[in-house]
Amino acid sequence: MRVAVIHGPNLNLLGLREPDVYGRETLEEINRRLQARASELGVELTITQSNHEGGVVEAIQACREAADAIIINPAALTHYSLAVRDALAAVGLPAVEVHLSNIHAREPFRRVSVTASVCRGQISGFGSLGYLLALEAAKAILEAA
Ligand code: DQA
Repeated sequence: MRVAVIHGPNLNLLGLREPDVYGRETLEEINRRLQARASELGVELTITQSNHEGGVVEAIQACREAADAIIINPAALTHYSLAVRDALAAVGLPAVEVHLSNIHAREPFRRVSVTASVCRGQISGFGSLGYLLALEAAKAILEAA
């Protein structure tokens, strides 16, 4: 079972970036916890981060060959990137959208996700725990398939 985790723009700055909103954990620490949980679950995990829309699109496209499911935090791209949405629709793999913050309790522009409707579901507001919950969800989706 192969799951690809894709982190979008500015998530490389976690820990430093608005810690009151996104927490003090770094992306490296989150990735380490995810890898540890994935090995317990017997899931093969690949993790990428890009600060570019095209980089996120290419990471999604690469999943056609390399993954069975996707966990994605598109970050700001969530709110406007039809290219990311179309890439998710094109690969057709089950995807789980994750946000550290509760985007529905923030500014109006963050309450819109153009990507959520091509994902199986969205986990928002649980901090880094959201990625671990998404991993459980991805595993359950693949087991049920
Ligand atoms: C985010 C929420 C987005 O609105 C924001 O642009 C991010 C992070 C989150 O994880 O809460 O970069 O996706």
